[in-house]
Amino acid sequence: MSKHSWWQTGVIYQTYPRSFQDTSGNGIGDLPGIASRLDYLADTLGIDAIWISPFYPSPMADFGYDVADYTGVDPLFGTMDDFEDLLNGVHARGMKLIIDWVPNHSSDEHRWFVESRSSRDNPKRDWYVWRDPKPDGSPPNNWLSAFGGPAWSFDEHTGQYYLCTFTKKQADLNWRNPEVQEAMFDDLSFWLDRGVDGIRVDVAHFVMKDPLLRDNPPVTGTPATLARNHGDYDRYEHLYDKGHPDNHPLYRDVRALLDSYRPERFSIGEIHIADWEEWAGYYGNLDELHLPFNFSLVHCPWTPDDIGRRVAAAEEAIPEGGWPSYVLGNHDDPRIATRFGEEHMPIAAMLLLTLRGVPTLYYGDELAIPQRFIPAEQQLDPHGRSLSGSGRDGCRTPMQWDNSFHAGFSPKGAASPWLPLTDDWPDRNVAKHLENPRSLLNLYRALLAYRKTSAVLQSGDYRRVDAPAGCLAYTRDGGALTIALNFTDTELDVGFSGNVAVTTYLDGDAAPARLRPHEGLIIEN
Ligand code: GLC
Repeated sequence: MSKHSWWQTGVIYQTYPRSFQDTSGNGIGDLPGIASRLDYLADTLGIDAIWISPFYPSPMADFGYDVADYTGVDPLFGTMDDFEDLLNGVHARGMKLIIDWVPNHSSDEHRWFVESRSSRDNPKRDWYVWRDPKPDGSPPNNWLSAFGGPAWSFDEHTGQYYLCTFTKKQADLNWRNPEVQEAMFDDLSFWLDRGVDGIRVDVAHFVMKDPLLRDNPPVTGTPATLARNHGDYDRYEHLYDKGHPDNHPLYRDVRALLDSYRPERFSIGEIHIADWEEWAGYYGNLDELHLPFNFSLVHCPWTPDDIGRRVAAAEEAIPEGGWPSYVLGNHDDPRIATRFGEEHMPIAAMLLLTLRGVPTLYYGDELAIPQRFIPAEQQLDPHGRSLSGSGRDGCRTPMQWDNSFHAGFSPKGAASPWLPLTDDWPDRNVAKHLENPRSLLNLYRALLAYRKTSAVLQSGDYRRVDAPAGCLAYTRDGGALTIALNFTDTELDVGFSGNVAVTTYLDGDAAPARLRPHEGLIIEN
């Protein structure tokens, strides 16, 4: 038996519930939809854990990241029974379920905020961050919303501003009030008690703010950012509104709560921090988050050296005993097929599934679904509407299953999907990919199957090795395996020897000494 936990050896698959499978016919995906596709995830693909973006009751101002009740299921997505069925179905197939936990803010329609805003002396007033205007009526400080405009919204009724780091309908909770921590932990326990295996912590490093709410200084020099364009927001150093050291005791408390459960529960935090040391701080002494998401490859120039450098930096930064994680795509960033180019998708798949650490795979990337262009004025995404070019609708289009009605996303006769399919769906869908023995989906299947039986890939060490320009090569487990990836469209003599276990060409013609254009190899030494 492996000495490692499931969350160390497994592969996570992210489903965006609105976009995975619609069973009700309203054009929006739902929990029974995810449940109906579990055989695909468990058997066809072979992943180990499913992360579902928020499905809680919500006015959907940020498509569920504005939670109005942390212990419910939005009727759009189904019922609590549907959730239980999904969880049971996941467990029956030997997989794990990870839910999204959104601690930084609730919806302004959450009953806590409704009470909080009702009067200045309401007992829940201090559950959110309320401040008087400056004498000239302007917001209390210069903090900006990550989605544009000030991070403060004025409430006429009580004459104060409340803090809202994202949309005005997402009010930041005041975690310095112990009642907030207690209430949020109670609500989290609701899901852990039901058997949920782990949490993905939304904007985990935003939660604790500077108690004095000091102004952020403007950036001098080039802003260090790992995330997509946030307009004016990127012009400030976010010294006081995120990454506060007081996040660390909070995550120690979160970890203690998770560790109080048997079997152990897992956490992976959304941490966008460019400074490696600060980022790695969220492992604590292995007593905070199990994994901070490592987004460094999401916005990495797609070259062997840039990738190799970032992997080396992560390996270096992670504390002794800590575990790495990698991700290429998610519901906030443009689709990888469009960012890297479709011809690079096979080596991207091999990279993600052969680095040391936990890979998270975004739904549809196994088909190379491209980014769908949706102009700013048609964007449903609040960020897309406020900042042209930053819209996230294009990476959230419906999953493409087959050639039937709406690509099999919705039942026959259903309303149009909430976002349009990509134009190439008749050729780019799961059924089509399964028919083609050399498809990207079949490559993912081969890589996942290989990884499942390979302790070397699951836990062996990583070392970059010399390779000709245009090739990224590394070994795992002291050289038991060599992985060689050709980023060019020409053949490369790489001179490796050994037995080719997987070629991204999925044929019998691979040779370890020579890579074909855009070929990746796993070589057994
Ligand atoms: C995270 C989510 C994103 C959401 C934001 C606010 O970045 O991934 O989708 O808009 O938090 O909750």
